[in-house]
Amino acid sequence: MKVLVTGGLGFIGSHTVVELQNEGFEVVIIDDLSNSSEDVLDGIVAISGVKPHFEKLDLKVKEDVISFFKKHSDVAGVIHFAASKAVGESVNKPLMYYENNINTLVYVLQELSKLNTQNFIFSSSCTVYGQADELPISENAPVKPAESPYGNTKQIGEEIIKDTCKINENLNSIALRYFNPIGAHFSAEIGELPIGVPQNLVPYITQTAIGMREQLSVFGGDYPTPDGTCIRDYIHVVDLAKAHVVALQRLLENKNVSNYEVFNLGTGTGSSVLEAIQSFDRVSGKKLNYKIVDRREGDVVAAYAETKKANDVLGWKTELNLDDAMASAWKWEQKIRNK
Ligand code: UD1
Repeated sequence: MKVLVTGGLGFIGSHTVVELQNEGFEVVIIDDLSNSSEDVLDGIVAISGVKPHFEKLDLKVKEDVISFFKKHSDVAGVIHFAASKAVGESVNKPLMYYENNINTLVYVLQELSKLNTQNFIFSSSCTVYGQADELPISENAPVKPAESPYGNTKQIGEEIIKDTCKINENLNSIALRYFNPIGAHFSAEIGELPIGVPQNLVPYITQTAIGMREQLSVFGGDYPTPDGTCIRDYIHVVDLAKAHVVALQRLLENKNVSNYEVFNLGTGTGSSVLEAIQSFDRVSGKKLNYKIVDRREGDVVAAYAETKKANDVLGWKTELNLDDAMASAWKWEQKIRNK
């Protein structure tokens, strides 16, 4: 069965391609290489022994999306990762974010809606919950006003899919709300490749440990949490990738109970920034240089997933923990810097 993975050379996309190929799917990747590299294909081949079909394609060019779907009208499903994801950048370039994340989603849905088989998996984010009133966060928690254009594109994206599903009963879709994806493939053949100074915690930790950054700034030590630092649900990217395969299989086997479903993807365990650093120190044998500084604007105090729906309904749960994720991220960092 042929599956289209947009953004398939990115961090989560590439790990999902590996898991899809492991399950015997034929994968077609579309990527515009704006935040990825064709070299990622070599990593995928090194792990799975299979080279996926790849087309460099910019989903903002509507005619190209139309001709792509004409050529690949036999796709059994689409997993749509392609999007820009830097929160700070989105504040400075809102229109770029709306064009990159919304126009492309509309074009893909328009063309997918013309096919006989219409299965769609969407990359959403726990950012839609903002600071939830109750922890852990269940899928029923209200969606809060977005803190950034990036967060808004995830909320609007979900609305677009939901509205389309209402009038198109042939379209079956699942929105997956990720908590904090980290780590890399155990083989260290693929991983996260942040451009410039990393904004996210784990790449900043590993780049500090390898000597590229002097010190990690821990944003805020006076939050109302046990150790004063923010709490997140860090999920290993390989666990996350596997959830996409399970979600796609759910649609292919017509197991979905409605044509628009939402699942949280997290471990269910919250870890503070200091606990994340301790985990890194434990698995790397290093002592990370860090300093507690002022809070970062826009950060929520605590977010971790209620995993019951994903466990019981989707039939998926995480198998790896924070130490596994840190160890894999560290192995990957060492591998790419030695290259
Ligand atoms: C961020 C985005 C979120 C997005 C996700 C994608 C923000 C406000 N949110 O989540 O919308 O879906 O990335 O991966 O940017 N931290 C430090 N020092 C650093 C970096 C981070 O202390 O140098 C702390 C943060 O304050 C936070 C935790 O580490 O408490 C995780 O931060 P990060 O990795 O940026 O993820 P989120 O902010 O949770």
